[in-house]
Amino acid sequence: MKVDGKEMRPIWLKKEDDKVEIIDQRMLPHELIIKSLDTVDDAIYAIKEMCVRGAPLIGVTGGFAVFVAVKNSPEGKLDWEYLEKECQKIKSARPTAVNLAWAVDRMVAKLRDAGDSYDAVLDAARDEALVIEEFEVENCRMIGQHGMPLIKKLSDQKGGKTVNLLTHCNAGWLACVEWGTATASMYTAFDNDIDIHVWVDETRPLNQGARLTAWELGKHGIKHTVITDNAGGHIMQHGMVDMVIVGTDRSTHTGDVANKIGTYLKALAAKDNGIPFYVALPSSTFDWVMKDGVKEIPIEERDPDEVRYIQGLLDGKLERVLVPPENSPAKDYAFDVTPSRLVTGFITERGVCGASEEEVKKLFPEKF
Ligand code: MRU
Repeated sequence: MKVDGKEMRPIWLKKEDDKVEIIDQRMLPHELIIKSLDTVDDAIYAIKEMCVRGAPLIGVTGGFAVFVAVKNSPEGKLDWEYLEKECQKIKSARPTAVNLAWAVDRMVAKLRDAGDSYDAVLDAARDEALVIEEFEVENCRMIGQHGMPLIKKLSDQKGGKTVNLLTHCNAGWLACVEWGTATASMYTAFDNDIDIHVWVDETRPLNQGARLTAWELGKHGIKHTVITDNAGGHIMQHGMVDMVIVGTDRSTHTGDVANKIGTYLKALAAKDNGIPFYVALPSSTFDWVMKDGVKEIPIEERDPDEVRYIQGLLDGKLERVLVPPENSPAKDYAFDVTPSRLVTGFITERGVCGASEEEVKKLFPEKF
């Protein structure tokens, strides 16, 4: 997507020197820092510390991390034991987004197929990482195509008046590669001259909504307003939200949705107010094994300092400040699970379906 007129992605492979580079999202929107992932540890650090984040992008980074592992093979020789170990390390960098394991497993299968020559395996790793990246770009583009008519319908019902959408966290191109998942339908609607406005939950503790979604939407010229995480219920009660669209880190094929902490409360408020609550995701974010999301999906707990401190710009410099009393303990649950009964539907690259096993099976029969 464009940043000040320049095409940008959150990750890319530099053709001239085969190096992987990323936008370090921790400093956005105030600083645009580029980092290079030269080692597997660099890639793991980037995923863990959320220089890259968002389920599809974590998967794509996992794919490139496997390529880096092959590139850095000891003595430039093929060593399957080393590679398997590195892949396990990469897979365990963050637990909730299923895309990471999906991408690494897909990479390993391709490498195994490439035979026993180091050069062939290295080429296969580079090719497959790029294929995964483009696969997610196309998935997100298609999510936008399938989700846009839902917004168009609301616009028609309102006689062309502004459609008010609400989203949580950042499920935009920064979280994917292009388009985003939740934002794909927004970008597509906007590009098709549908009048939209987006309520952006700030999304504590790391403020991905206020920092990243607001930045993305602003760069694209989409009207938006940042609200506190707790404002959603109020504005829904007062008819200010026509539809909620969020992304997900892992959704069971039975319809339960893990997403950034606070999503569940938005789904409850949407249900209580009769507002459609859609979840946009590529097929790589479905968990085809787990059936009960609340019981089974691993919920990441992060450093409580993310809750205790808040980061922002002060006199042109990024600063972190402490909010609660010095000694108050804090807990940092990164995700929650919205049960399928609260989800109006999934927007996928193959179309829109209900959040149930039966409905998901209609779109992805080969997975059952
Ligand atoms: O902790 P994060 O920033 O990686 O969490 C991201 C989210 O919760 C997104 O909503 C989700 O990954 C969907 S991304 C298209």
